[in-house]
Amino acid sequence: MNKPNLISGIQPTGRLHIGNYLGALKNFVELQNSGKYQCYFFIADLHALTENPDPKELNKNITGLASDFLAAGLDQKKSVIFQQSQIHAHTELAWILNTITPMGELERMTQFKDKSKRQMDNVNAGLFDYPVLMAADILIYDAEHVPTGDDQDQHLELTRTVARKFNARFGTTFKEPKNIHTVAPRVMDLRVPGKKMSKSDPTGCLFIDDSPEEIKNKIMSATTDSYAGVQYDKFSRPGMSNLLEIYSALSDKKIQDIVNSFDGKGYGEFKKSLAETISDYFADFRKKKKSLLAKPYTLNPILNSGSKKAAARASAKIKEVKKRVGLI
Ligand code: ADP
Ligand code: TRP
Repeated sequence: MNKPNLISGIQPTGRLHIGNYLGALKNFVELQNSGKYQCYFFIADLHALTENPDPKELNKNITGLASDFLAAGLDQKKSVIFQQSQIHAHTELAWILNTITPMGELERMTQFKDKSKRQMDNVNAGLFDYPVLMAADILIYDAEHVPTGDDQDQHLELTRTVARKFNARFGTTFKEPKNIHTVAPRVMDLRVPGKKMSKSDPTGCLFIDDSPEEIKNKIMSATTDSYAGVQYDKFSRPGMSNLLEIYSALSDKKIQDIVNSFDGKGYGEFKKSLAETISDYFADFRKKKKSLLAKPYTLNPILNSGSKKAAARASAKIKEVKKRVGLI
């Protein structure tokens, strides 16, 4: 029997931090290795253009993200790993879907509202249309499962709305995808634990390719509080609780067990142990990423071969869509 299709993408907008890893990439690898799905994982480079990145920076981030995917354990023998802009059918389908997507639906999108505030000097049409391209990314592969954070729920709901609309008007063509939510902590900023860690504010980020020294410095100087000892309390001790969540996620130990093991010990000892845990956890990743980036020319053939597989599937689907709407 054919396995159900699963798809997800990450934008190449900067180095991945531990929140991106726990909230997305780690889960991608586990879903791939579960053997339950035909997985598609891609670099959402066209989406990244909506933030008008510097061309050299964007290119560097594409290479960086490709190496993150592979170093973290995505495997081109098990999953289709590709670069969005290499598959023309995504943008073709996005255009066709644009013509049945009500402006009102897009105006409701909270990500559009947030980003419009964040980049007030550049509220471009691509930013507004972002969710339609995302719908095309998913629908073109008949994907049934989409692992993303809950910040993407609204976009997925729109994807289902557009699929239903298309199916009602032109006959059943698309499957309605469902979100697979990651059971992962929302990692908070190391300096300001009241806000989520985000690439848009690198000062509070712990990057997954940080060196052991950088990890140590960042963890030792992470904001905690003036209470004594190691305790988990998200409300009164958000910084400490964030560090405990990171510790638990990377060590597979329960938070309470970690708290117990530091009974009577101070912050310093806890932070030192956490820094070592993080550093050890990503040691293999750092080594693999370094060796991939030392030979960046090996990444292109991998992406090209993934894109070829993706294109074969996407071209068949866009042909079906064009027939449905009367273009051919
Ligand atoms: P960022 O806010 O750092 O730019 P993105 O919006 O590009 O991150 O998100 C990429 C993926 O990482 C998404 O699946 C998102 O849900 C997840 N993610 C981002 N930040 C965090 C965080 N602090 N904690 C957990 N998951 C996160
Ligand atoms: N919008 C997603 C994010 O910011 C990235 C993305 C683009 C995506 N297209 C997708 C995720 C299709 C899943 C499926 O995280």
